[in-house]
Amino acid sequence: MLNLHKDHKNLVLLAFSVFVALSIGVAIIPAYQMEEYEPIPGQKDLTAQERRGLNIYIAEGCVGCHTQQVRNIEMDKTWGERPSLASDYFYSKKRMDIWRQSPSLLGSERTGPDLTDIGNRQPSEQWHLLHLYNPRLVIEASVMPRYSWLFKEVDTLDVKDDDVTLPRSITKMKDSYIMVAKPEALDLVAYLKGLQQFSFDDYEPPMDFIPALPKTENSASSGASTKKSLGASLYQNNCAACHQTTGRGVKGAFPPLAGSLIVNNKDPEKLIKIILMGYDARQEYGVMSAFADKLTDEEIKAIADHERSSWGNSAPKVPLETIVKLRDSINKIPKTQ
Ligand code: HEC
Ligand code: HEC
Repeated sequence: MLNLHKDHKNLVLLAFSVFVALSIGVAIIPAYQMEEYEPIPGQKDLTAQERRGLNIYIAEGCVGCHTQQVRNIEMDKTWGERPSLASDYFYSKKRMDIWRQSPSLLGSERTGPDLTDIGNRQPSEQWHLLHLYNPRLVIEASVMPRYSWLFKEVDTLDVKDDDVTLPRSITKMKDSYIMVAKPEALDLVAYLKGLQQFSFDDYEPPMDFIPALPKTENSASSGASTKKSLGASLYQNNCAACHQTTGRGVKGAFPPLAGSLIVNNKDPEKLIKIILMGYDARQEYGVMSAFADKLTDEEIKAIADHERSSWGNSAPKVPLETIVKLRDSINKIPKTQ
């Protein structure tokens, strides 16, 4: 029996084992789980300057007042076009150095606005510099602290300083002093301007090399092959930004359609309903929007047939009537919004 009252070694050993067990459960296993996630194709890595800015953001504790997460609820719609995905954080999770893992910047306090998309909302470098120097200069009643140590006073202006000076009239400095942003401020602003939510609407997935697709000009057997390429190109234009040309999806964001039970189900009802109405069933994936208004029944059939016969999937074709019927039944449901 462990005697914890009289034997201090047992006590230390027990405390240490609990510490090790908790570290494995709380830090090490989740770190390995994070390795599985992939970036969204087309998403940009941070530049060297933006990464330095990220480290300053961490050092200054901006996360104490600002979140970087758009939740899937009504009140968060102002902060981004879509809810955040695990993959959105792929490039910022890189370790700061060998000893320090980059902290999660999702944040839990929203004393100030969410910054997920601040780069789009406020693209002006000058605005950000003024705001960091003294938030009250641009937002009268702001409670955000000044970060004036990111700036320095100079007597004369270097040529390269020119575009980062704060106007004297605004800073109300003595005439002989001029405020110039230090490199840290510029790095931080570069990071803030880079905070732009990745939009699937503007993203054109690259057309991967698909050997099975014949060129339309020289294909003699028009019938079957054009049908196939119609489905493939509709898929490419409407679905591949998320589910990928390969049907593999993106871990942490979009489920694979290759091998999907829903896509391969003999009964296509659920698949067609997802395409018509959109889908948001699981926490670990983002939200898929509805395609009922964007695609005709014939186009949905072409896409569904393409999905059911590609990437190793093999399920029977979807009869057009099924789609017509499902669309009718959906239209009968009164819209809630
Ligand atoms: C004490 C809480 C607090 C801290 C710490 C803080 N902020 Fe703020 N921040 C605010 C508040 C409140 C606002 C809204 C008023 C305003 O725009 O100044 C804001 C606004 C902002 C905005 C403008 C957002 C928009 O949508 O217009 C940016 C950018 C910003 N903060 C960046 C930062 C950075 C970078 C840091 C760290 C260097 C930081 N904040 C630290 C509270 C804070
Ligand atoms: C903006 C990104 C996006 C686009 C574009 C998109 N989807 Fe999705 N799709 C998703 C997400 C996210 C899910 C998972 C939702 C969930 O489970 O919460 C999903 C789920 C699915 C599923 C269910 C798969 C399974 O096994 O769980 C099918 C089938 C599907 N989508 C088909 C399509 C088709 C067909 C298109 C093109 C017409 C398309 N999607 C376009 C994001 C997208």
